[in-house]
Amino acid sequence: MLTPTLRPLALVLLLCACFVFVIPAAAQDDPLTIGFAQVGSESAWRIAFTEATLAEAEARGINLLFSDADNSQETQIAALRSFIEQGVDAIILAPVVETGWDTVLTEVRDAGIPLVVVDRNVTSDPSLYISRVSSDFVQEGRLAAAWLAQQTSGECSIIELEGTVGSSAARDRQIGFNDVIALFPNMDIIFSQSGDFTREGGREVMEGIMLSEDMSDVCAIWAHNDDMMIGAVESLKAAGLNPGTDILTISVDAIPDIFGVMMAGDANATVELSPYMAAPAFDAIESYLAGETIPAWIPVSGSLYTQATAAEEYANRTR
Ligand code: AHR
Repeated sequence: MLTPTLRPLALVLLLCACFVFVIPAAAQDDPLTIGFAQVGSESAWRIAFTEATLAEAEARGINLLFSDADNSQETQIAALRSFIEQGVDAIILAPVVETGWDTVLTEVRDAGIPLVVVDRNVTSDPSLYISRVSSDFVQEGRLAAAWLAQQTSGECSIIELEGTVGSSAARDRQIGFNDVIALFPNMDIIFSQSGDFTREGGREVMEGIMLSEDMSDVCAIWAHNDDMMIGAVESLKAAGLNPGTDILTISVDAIPDIFGVMMAGDANATVELSPYMAAPAFDAIESYLAGETIPAWIPVSGSLYTQATAAEEYANRTR
């Protein structure tokens, strides 16, 4: 039995004991710090992806350390090393190119930091990262080619505007597209050049092509993203040609601007790449940190859109 004089002391000790239990629970609720190594801001899609990721982090109370590498793998590698030094809880890497990641990803793994690869792929061993969130770029290329084959009854001379050389987005879209046109003896790529996924790149490459190619032979332009297509459309129109009518167009991303160009009748179709990859990436990190098993690949899907629904899509999309 406690004497009346000892009772207040006992109460204080009891409260202290509760406080000791409360501290770990509060520590668990500490915001996660996640490093995000982004490619750059080369396209409207990329900017939308960055904005959506920042918004998702804010909504979840995640402290996001953001690095824009301006299309440089060296800058991305330096960002990953800086994230290790800062002791982040996890890393999201959207790699510029596929190869050259083994050393730094081994450093990340050895530091015990879970890493999720988003969007483009890496050739490193999958044991160096916990998961990948991405679309199927090969499938995007196949979808684009299948639409074009249907529109042209399998007869078409095509100009290809490639994305960044060495990126899995460019390589795999090309593989998928070429796989399908190989089934049609009268579908050919007659010219192919990289516009580096930029609007300016598409504009310049198209201007160069018009100097060397007889454009009356060209049935379609296939661009690995909408920005290059929009640049190319501007060049074609400035030269008095009629993209969307005399020359068919098919590209990838489904950004709002391409729907505007489609509404004007100057472009024909686009394959969607969702910029909303942050939510599944953050979910994967949170599940992993909670000790759960997560899938090696978390796919993000998209559809093909044509002029038929362009106005509706333009009105409904903010990114
Ligand atoms: O990796 C995805 C590609 O990168 C997008 O299609 C393109 O717009 C971006 O630059």
